[in-house]
Amino acid sequence: ITNKSDESKYVSGTIANADLDVSDAVGLGTLKPTIVKSAPIRGQEPGTSGLRKKTKEFMSENYLNNFVQAVFDAVIAGGTNVSEGTLVVGGDGRYYNDKAIQTIIKMGVANGVKRFWIGKDGLLSTPAVSATIRERGPVWQTAFGAFILTASHNPGGPEEDFGIKYNTQNGGPAPEYLMQATYSNTTSIKSYKICADFPEVDITTVGSTTILAGDGSSSVVVEVIPSTESHVALLKTIFDFDAIKALLDRDDFTMVYDSMHGVNGPYSKSIFVDELGQPESVLTNHIPKDDFNGGHADPNLTYAKELVATMGLNAKGDKIDVSGPIPSFGAAADGDGDRNMILGTQFFVTPSDSLAVIVANANCIPFFRNQGGLKAVARSMPTSGAVDRVAKDLNLDFFETPTGWKFFGNLMDSKVIFKGKDYTPFICGEESFGTGSDHVREKDGIWAVLAWLNILAANNSDASKPLVTVEDIVQKHWSKYGRNYYCRWDFEGVDKVKATAMMDKMRADSATNTGRTVGSYTIATADDFKYIDPVDGSVAQKQGIRFLMSDGSRIIFRLSGTAGSGATVRMYIEQYETEKLNLPVAVALEELTEIALGLCDILTFCGTKTPTVIT
Ligand code: G6P
Ligand code: ZN
Repeated sequence: ITNKSDESKYVSGTIANADLDVSDAVGLGTLKPTIVKSAPIRGQEPGTSGLRKKTKEFMSENYLNNFVQAVFDAVIAGGTNVSEGTLVVGGDGRYYNDKAIQTIIKMGVANGVKRFWIGKDGLLSTPAVSATIRERGPVWQTAFGAFILTASHNPGGPEEDFGIKYNTQNGGPAPEYLMQATYSNTTSIKSYKICADFPEVDITTVGSTTILAGDGSSSVVVEVIPSTESHVALLKTIFDFDAIKALLDRDDFTMVYDSMHGVNGPYSKSIFVDELGQPESVLTNHIPKDDFNGGHADPNLTYAKELVATMGLNAKGDKIDVSGPIPSFGAAADGDGDRNMILGTQFFVTPSDSLAVIVANANCIPFFRNQGGLKAVARSMPTSGAVDRVAKDLNLDFFETPTGWKFFGNLMDSKVIFKGKDYTPFICGEESFGTGSDHVREKDGIWAVLAWLNILAANNSDASKPLVTVEDIVQKHWSKYGRNYYCRWDFEGVDKVKATAMMDKMRADSATNTGRTVGSYTIATADDFKYIDPVDGSVAQKQGIRFLMSDGSRIIFRLSGTAGSGATVRMYIEQYETEKLNLPVAVALEELTEIALGLCDILTFCGTKTPTVIT
C-alpha cells in the first residue's frame, strides 16, 4: 500500500484500516480477486430507476453482491473497458449507503476497475453523479459509469427502502437493454468476484489513495472527492449568480430551502451559503440523515409538511393563518436531490406550471441565452399541457414522452444519435416534481430552484420597485397562456391484480368510450398512450389510459412504476381555462374528478375511492 501520489487532486492518503500490516498487504496481494460461489436470487429486476427493495433484503447474503456482479458482467459484455477511466460511487446517504460503497469498491477492483471517485461521506446527489461523470477529471480519467445508491424519495432506514442504479458514460441512467442484460445475469449467476482483502476506504476524508498489487504489477486509485464540486461548478456556468445574489440580498426577499434530511443539504449549503453569501438560516433540514429523520423525503404538499406550513399553506394548497412573516420563496428537495417543489408566499406552483414558466422565461438564464435560445422542450404524457402552449408560441420543438426521465435523454443526445438533428438546449419536466435540462442527464432539483431564482432576479432588476413575486409571475403567465388546472390523486398500496384488472377493463373499453358523452364533457379519444421514440424508433406501449375530452381536458390513469409494495394507481385530472383563472383547484376540477372516478370504477375494483395522497 502506498500513500504516495502523483494525482493532481491528491490530498492525503486515507486508509481507515490502519492496523493492516503493509508487508502483509503486499504478501496478501490485496488486488487479487476471490471467486465467491453464489446462486440466483429472485426478483432482482430493475424498475424505472434501478433496483429498489427493503433494506433488509439488500443486506441479506449475496443480495447486493449478485446485483453488482450482474451489472459489471452486463457493462463489460456491452463493450465497456472498466479498466480505463473511472467508476463513480455515491448515494443519498440512507442507511447501508456506507457499507454498500465498500462492497462495490471491493467488487469493482475484482472486476478490473482501476480508479474510483467516491463522494465524501458516501454522498452524491443523483444530478451530481451525472455532472461528475460528464464534467470531472482530465480526459484519461473521465468516468465510464456510476453506481448510485438511492431509493429516491422512498423512506430510508433498516426497516425501509434501499436502492441501487447504474448510470452510463453520458451521465444518464443505463439504457433498457443494459438493465435487461443485468436482470438476465441475476437469474443465472453462479459466483461473484470480490477482493476481500482490499482495505476499507475512509470515505469521510477527501483524498486519494493508491493501492499496489503485491508484486507491484498493477495499482488501484481510490479518490474521495468533494461531493459538491463538479455539480456546483457546472451550475455556476449556467445561472447568473450575481443577479441571484442581488435578489437574495434584497430586504424584501426571503427564502427557505428544505432538504428534508436528504443528500441535497451539502449542495444547498455550498450554493446558498458559500457561493451566494446567505445565512445558514435559509436552509432547513440540511443535515443528511440515514433515515431522513424518519420522514418521507418527497417534496410535495403532503410530505413536505414543515415547509408547506412555513409558506402559509395546508396539504391541499389552501392558505392558512400563520403568525409572523412568510418567506417570499420556498423550495424543497427529495432524498437524492433530483426532485423539486417551488412555492411562493401562500402559493403553490404545480410542477407542470413550473415547467411552463421556466420554458417561457428561459432566456433570462445565461445557459440558454448564450446558446442562441432554447430549442426544444418535452414533458411526460401525464404532465399538464401548460408547456405545450408556450412551445407553440415560441416555436420550439415539442415532445410528449412516457413517464420516466430516460425518454428525455435520447432527445438530448439526439445530435449524436440522430444524424445531426440537435434538440439542445433542451428543457424537460414531469408532473412528479422533476425538472431539468441537457446540462446533465438526470432531473436536477437545485437546478430548478436556481432557474426560478434567476427568473425572479431578472424580473426584479430594479431594486427600487416593489418585489415581483412568484405568484405575480405565475398569474402573468396564466393571463397570457391560460391556466391548466391540474391535480393528481394517488391510491397507494392497492392490490396489484385488482388494479391491473381495472386498467385492462378501461383499455378494453377504449373504443366504446370514444365519442361518449359524460356529464358536460365528450370523450374525443380514449386510448392507451404509445410512444415511438423519434430518435431511435423504439416503441413504448401501454404508457397510460387517456380520456381526451373535446374541450382539451384530460383524465389519465397509470400504475406507478416505482411503488414499493402492492400497486399505486395514479389518476391525473386536467382542465384548461382561459377566463376563470383563480378558482380553488378542487372546485375547478370537481365535475371531472367525479367523472374520472366513474370511468375507472376504482371503488368496485380496489375497494376505495379515497386517495392516499393528492398533489
Ligand atoms: C421516478 C422517475 C421519474 C418518474 C417518477 C414517477 O422519479 O425518475 O422520471 O416520473 O419516478 O414514476 P411513477 O411510475 O411512480 O409515477
Ligand atoms: Zn429522486
